[in-house]
Amino acid sequence: MAEIINKLCTIILIVRYVTAEVNERYYPRYHLAPPHGWMNDPNGFSIYKNDYHLFYQYNPNSSLEPGIAHWGHAKSKDLFHWEHLPIAMYPDQDYDKSGVFSGSAVVDADNLILLYTGNVNHPGEDPDHEQHQALASSSDGVNFTKYSNNPVIQGEEHQPNFRDPKVWKHNDTYYMVLGNSFQNNTLGRALLYASKDLISWKQVSILDESDGSLGYMWECPDFFDLRGRYVLLFSPQGIKPQGDKYKNLYQTGYIVGDFDYKTNLFTPVTEFRELDHGHDFYATQTIVDKSHRRIMVAWFDMWEQNYPERTDGFTGFMTIPRVLSLTRDGRLIQKPVKEIGTARGKLLRSGKADRGAAVTLTDKAGEIKIKAEGNKDLEVIIEASNATVTLSYNYTDGRVSLDRGGADGLRRTKWRPRGKLRWLIYVDASSVELFCGDGEVTFSSRFFPDGPTAVRLGDESDVQEFVVNAMKRTVLKPPKGN
Ligand code: FRU
Repeated sequence: MAEIINKLCTIILIVRYVTAEVNERYYPRYHLAPPHGWMNDPNGFSIYKNDYHLFYQYNPNSSLEPGIAHWGHAKSKDLFHWEHLPIAMYPDQDYDKSGVFSGSAVVDADNLILLYTGNVNHPGEDPDHEQHQALASSSDGVNFTKYSNNPVIQGEEHQPNFRDPKVWKHNDTYYMVLGNSFQNNTLGRALLYASKDLISWKQVSILDESDGSLGYMWECPDFFDLRGRYVLLFSPQGIKPQGDKYKNLYQTGYIVGDFDYKTNLFTPVTEFRELDHGHDFYATQTIVDKSHRRIMVAWFDMWEQNYPERTDGFTGFMTIPRVLSLTRDGRLIQKPVKEIGTARGKLLRSGKADRGAAVTLTDKAGEIKIKAEGNKDLEVIIEASNATVTLSYNYTDGRVSLDRGGADGLRRTKWRPRGKLRWLIYVDASSVELFCGDGEVTFSSRFFPDGPTAVRLGDESDVQEFVVNAMKRTVLKPPKGN
């Protein structure tokens, strides 16, 4: 009897949880977040039948832990107005029973094809898990069927950390870059595979690998051309902090080089560079859209953070989608996609402003544009009664910083404006994204303000332009029970 009552209580708890609404205070207004539960990496970013599709690592059962990963799913016409769709993949097969891990999507003959990692844990054994690559497909973009002969890549020689396939097509061949750890899990690398049919795959090269300075595992690799050069973008684990660099638990960064499809060899021409300088930016994924833009999203969070939103019924959201371009000297530039305009609301203030000028944001969300002299210090403060984020430019140092307070609050990097100082800042309930200049330096950090949130110029910061717009709520309320 006690057992039945226990089971009933668990079921009631689950039903209450699944139908529960999340608390609004930290839930984003115009960034994609899970309807409830846990979100990590963006997955399967794609365009299918005129919609953007974005999947993500998802635990529908709890916002307190990643649990056993599912693929959550949303679609949008403009990258801001998202509609939540049913869960695309459950961990329901022998080869993915401990997690439908990260992966990507390609459109093939009218079908949306997903390639992902099936994770299987072996508790108490060594190694304690294995990972293989699997395929699923859909002809309506909503219902997915896993391939009957999965996994499509076993990769015995690359176990146990062998994951996160990113697939693209070049001429008549599909390519896949995979994250891997070698030399007894002490060094990370990116492997390249090729296939004619998405089913039968062959390893064709190692794109690049850590020599010890770039960590023990490379997660979520991506590989693409920009301006005739190639970018290897990945999220290495195990890089040690060095001054202002690599201060997060794990990093996301890139190496630019040359690539030859005849030999499948990548020749780096730059060192590894961090892509964002804030606290919360990980596991990026990119696509090319119909107007040839290379658009990137990242998980706007970081592992092991224990942020307060988790007790509000959700964890994690996605960054603003950003268009990538490459400078001549091999640096990635990031700009919010122009569709951000569809989320822009009422103008709250514009024009010149003197030190101390302040605007209270509507609904804790806003877009702030600053133009100031390039040869003076600047401070912009985003504040609520319990939380403050200070953005500063220090002219003498030639550095820009974001400080959200607390023990590990400061993030900083070199940056000098070319001419006028221009900043573009997005605030959304529990996040700040700062784009410096043309987007040559960005900071993405979470913070958790309670009550009204305002933006204020520092005590010595007079600016030529201080433009503040409200931002609209663009993410549709999730359907109950999804
Ligand atoms: C990156 C990552 C991936 C893995 C997924 C599991 O954040 O660890 O390597 O596929 O998350 O959720």
